[in-house]
Amino acid sequence: MKKSAEIFDEIVHSRRSVRKYNSSAPFDDESVARSLERAVLAPTSSNLQLWEFYRVKSEVNKKKLAKICFNQNAAKTANELIIVVVRNDKWRERAAFVVEETLKDYPESWAKRKSLVDAYYNRLIPMLYFQGPFGIIGNIKKISANISGVFRPVPREVTETDLRISAHKSAALAAQTFMLSMKAEGYDTCAMEGFDSVRVSKFLKLPKYAEINMIIAVGVADENGVYGKRVRVPNYDTIFEM
Ligand SMILES: Cc1cc2nc3c(=O)[nH]c(=O)nc-3n(C[C@H](O)[C@H](O)[C@H](O)COP(=O)(O)O)c2cc1C
Repeated sequence: MKKSAEIFDEIVHSRRSVRKYNSSAPFDDESVARSLERAVLAPTSSNLQLWEFYRVKSEVNKKKLAKICFNQNAAKTANELIIVVVRNDKWRERAAFVVEETLKDYPESWAKRKSLVDAYYNRLIPMLYFQGPFGIIGNIKKISANISGVFRPVPREVTETDLRISAHKSAALAAQTFMLSMKAEGYDTCAMEGFDSVRVSKFLKLPKYAEINMIIAVGVADENGVYGKRVRVPNYDTIFEM
């Protein structure tokens, strides 16, 4: 095995969900900044990066947020809480940014692909993301996909809900990158979906269409921070070859 795979193996195997942190142990909060910089390098659907990350650091805010997380131990004792937010409402500005940056100083040798990039972000993405009032356009697209799909492979995930799922997938990949990075930095984490999402949105003063993906507790693991042995369904039930 390559050295880097050995190191990665160690990180993956030692990462556990830690529910109790030692807040008096030394904690380098720059490790969170570094890990977030790594997290945003995670793959993201159409590279739209429809995510935001909020670091909750002050004691006052952590206490408020822990309450919204039903006072779970992980939330109550964490050195920091990171809120991962999905921003599908920002698709226009993110697409505009990505296409502009992608085409800036575009290599001459890739000229052919330039028009494809332009078409992708300026025509295809708006076609997919524009949903109309109450998501009506998305539902029409779904019916049309179901009809065309009888005859040939077509994209099926075209509704507002489908796009929400897509953005949550990407955000979760960033969240996992973040958690593995924190482990590599020598700290522990706990992903949480046990919270009142309406109250979290209010706490962050988010607009209506923003959604909470997950909250990640971060800190120095207490010696009793892991609540039990690691349990996984056997691989033969989950991993298949064909
Ligand atoms: C999306 C998501 C939400 C989770 N929510 C919570 C939670 O609210 N509270 C909690 O204590 N653990 C939560 N967990 C942690 C899981 O319970 C944990 O990952 C699982 O039991 C496997 O244990 P391990 O992470 O130590 O391998 C969550 C994990 C994920 C991925």
